[in-house]
Amino acid sequence: MTTACYIIASILFILSLGGLSHPEKARRGNLFGIIGMILAVLATILLARDTINPVLLAGMMILGGVVGSVLAARVKMTAMPELVAMLHSFVGLAAVLVGFATFLAPHHLTGAEKTIHDVETYLGILIGAVTFTGSVVAFGKLNGMIGGKPLLLPGRHLLNLIILLASIWLAYDFIQHGSPTPLVIMTVLACLFGIHMVAAIGGADMPVVISMLNSYSGWAAAATGFLLGNDLLIVTGALVGSSGAILSIIMCRAMNRKFISVILGGFGSGTPKAGSGAAAEHGEAVAITADQTAELLKNAKSVVIVPGYGMAVAQAQQSVSAMVKKLTEAGIRIRFAIHPVAGRMPGHMNVLLAEARVPYDIVLEMDEINVDFPSTDVVLVIGANDIVNPSAEDEPDSPIAGMPVLQVWHAKDVIILKRSMATGYAGVENPLFFKDNSRMLFGDAKASIDAVVHGLA
Ligand code: TAP
Repeated sequence: MTTACYIIASILFILSLGGLSHPEKARRGNLFGIIGMILAVLATILLARDTINPVLLAGMMILGGVVGSVLAARVKMTAMPELVAMLHSFVGLAAVLVGFATFLAPHHLTGAEKTIHDVETYLGILIGAVTFTGSVVAFGKLNGMIGGKPLLLPGRHLLNLIILLASIWLAYDFIQHGSPTPLVIMTVLACLFGIHMVAAIGGADMPVVISMLNSYSGWAAAATGFLLGNDLLIVTGALVGSSGAILSIIMCRAMNRKFISVILGGFGSGTPKAGSGAAAEHGEAVAITADQTAELLKNAKSVVIVPGYGMAVAQAQQSVSAMVKKLTEAGIRIRFAIHPVAGRMPGHMNVLLAEARVPYDIVLEMDEINVDFPSTDVVLVIGANDIVNPSAEDEPDSPIAGMPVLQVWHAKDVIILKRSMATGYAGVENPLFFKDNSRMLFGDAKASIDAVVHGLA
């Protein structure tokens, strides 16, 4: 019965992940996940019914359930990464505690079986401790308790290497003698490593770190599954571990950063290359008014909107939605182009547009829309910068060289909404602003869009 439940729960978790890959199916995906988890918990209780203290279990489940529900109901969309970081720290801590509990529990294993058991214990505690402290620091950075600047200790790579070598030696010692000392020393070192690793990563790289910690928490859970002999925990941990790793790699690829260079930290600590001589180099940027923008839009047949981090800052999504409604009613074909790392977290723009009830079928991904820019009349770039920067393609020395970008400059007219000529996250100058077919609509994105909507009336 338990095995059957575990298999069904595993299938539901896989269907859940599949559902989460598209906004339209995400709700259903979540539902599969919820049903799978209820089934998993019930089956596990059933399995352990003879050894369990029902009062303790019920008390803990009620306590955890109430705290979790209150937190989840209260959390703001923008504070979601913080909550996720905090939850990862719990998984890490649980893996450490289960590891020590298993070590302390009497067993009669010998030979290869004992070695396997010791390796499982050691790895579970190691991954768990790194995940625990790393996630706590990530939480602190995201909610502002700890500064966002990367902490760059002198010889930090050497320090990490020493910790790694020490962990390998301690593992050998632990497996040989089975004494608690190497286990405790390794736990302290792993905790310090988790703190150091995340502290060295710049605030803006945090989304990659969160998905990486997500992956670690999965592997910690899988290791715990081996320790407890629980197949479902192994499968679930592996699913979380691999999906977190895949997401980290997708994000790094879309930013054209090497995963290893994100992990080694330090990005964002240099002075941004905001080109002061840029105007001389590229010519002058030409401004446009909201009324002129409205006029241009009225005469267009096809319009593409590129949202970016600035749309999130200005909270302009409702105004954008109102503008889209007006233009659609006027018979203009309007679509959104979403870059995989637009904004500051995966799916940032999709969530904002969904919140403003923009239909999913007009929200397209980069590869789908890039071919359509030459046949587009007007592109509205709303608070986006790096993701529409042609120097990623034209300038091999640029820090964002090779990053895939939305080729908006192929459209007939491009209007860029931002407050100033400042650079974006990567701190690089954007030649798009100086192209002949580009116009700058300066001001807060929400105020500018409201003025355009007014002009459309
Ligand atoms: P950015 O390149 O950061 O540009 C955002 C632009 O919005 C800025 O140039 C800013 O210019 C403008 N802005 C800010 N507040 C505004 C407001 N209230 N009204 C109007 N404009 C406003 O953003 P992007 O184009 O979305 O690119 C995302 C960047 O973040 C990429 O470099 C990416 O690699 C990085 N990143 C993304 C992620 C994920 S997962 N999404 C993770 C880590 C890093 P003004 O100051 O002149 O207004």
